[in-house]
Amino acid sequence: MQINGNDYRSVWFEHHRVKMIDQNKLPHTFAIAEYSNYLEVAAAIRSMTVRGAPAIGAAGAYAMALAVLNAPDEKFRAYMRSAKAELIATRPTAIDLNNGVSYVYEHTLKFIPDYTHARQVAILAAREFANKSAEDCHQIGIVGAEVVPHGARILTHCNAGALATVDWGTALAVIRMAHKQKKDIFVYVDETRPRFQGARLTAWELEQEGIPHAIITDSAAGFYFWKKEIDLVITGTDRVCLNGDIANKIGTYEKAIMAHEHRIPFYIAAPLTTFDFTCKEGTDIPIEIREEEEIKCINGNCIANPGSPALNPSFDITPAKYITGIITNKGIFKPRDAAQKVQG
Ligand code: MRU
Repeated sequence: MQINGNDYRSVWFEHHRVKMIDQNKLPHTFAIAEYSNYLEVAAAIRSMTVRGAPAIGAAGAYAMALAVLNAPDEKFRAYMRSAKAELIATRPTAIDLNNGVSYVYEHTLKFIPDYTHARQVAILAAREFANKSAEDCHQIGIVGAEVVPHGARILTHCNAGALATVDWGTALAVIRMAHKQKKDIFVYVDETRPRFQGARLTAWELEQEGIPHAIITDSAAGFYFWKKEIDLVITGTDRVCLNGDIANKIGTYEKAIMAHEHRIPFYIAAPLTTFDFTCKEGTDIPIEIREEEEIKCINGNCIANPGSPALNPSFDITPAKYITGIITNKGIFKPRDAAQKVQG
């Protein structure tokens, strides 16, 4: 992605350090965070310095590479095993994290006890995982632009942009490409409570690219459906199951139902790293529950009744029957066929 005239990825590996755009500081401050051990990267994933399923997949892969670099020879396997478990536990819903960490872990294991070689392989494997993820997202944009009619008014939820991936985005890759093709689109950006990924990050990315858009409250989407001002919904996802059910940011499910009620196409965009080939259906997906402070306080200002508890599920499940198609780098598929088709 281009920021202030320079090319960036959301996360990368340089001089034995994991570097990332600090997404908690955007849109007001653009800063790069960097870490030299995997525990720091684990904390950055947990606190959402880096976030978005494919981006945390790549961050996890690089963090696993750091763990391998720092693992003492005499405890190599045990150190790797506990790093893998700690990293995967930071955010349970996005399967990309599991996939990224496991990719580096499995590739590295094959070279033990040649520890020098194993360390080189870990870095190469992490880079390979991140590069493939970025290429898939670029291709998703090219493939997906065909579902965007000229003049489309598109609703998106959360941030499925370049920040949420290694580069390009998923839902936003499609939107970017449609804009490049001069389709005269307009994007409704759900603010996405409680962390405001739409209002802070999607809006920032769209502004950088000069794509016409407006931020709306999460509860305003129904009003725009009712006014017939939404032609298309596109979001990303944190996990796609074998039956085509998906998990995505809390609030996605209700948008899918509204789209269904109004007979508006509802698309999900996902790279290969977001497919879980062991997950039969949505009820098998673990839903991350985050701290109640995220709901009750904004930037340290507590806005809610202090004595009341809050419930903060971070994701919900959208059943396959509400999804028009899953946009992948290999094509656009019916939800129930997608897992099989992306593997082929
Ligand atoms: O909690 P987040 O911000 O990591 O959630 C991100 C989302 O829900 C995105 O829509 C999803 O990861 C797809 S990103 C291409």
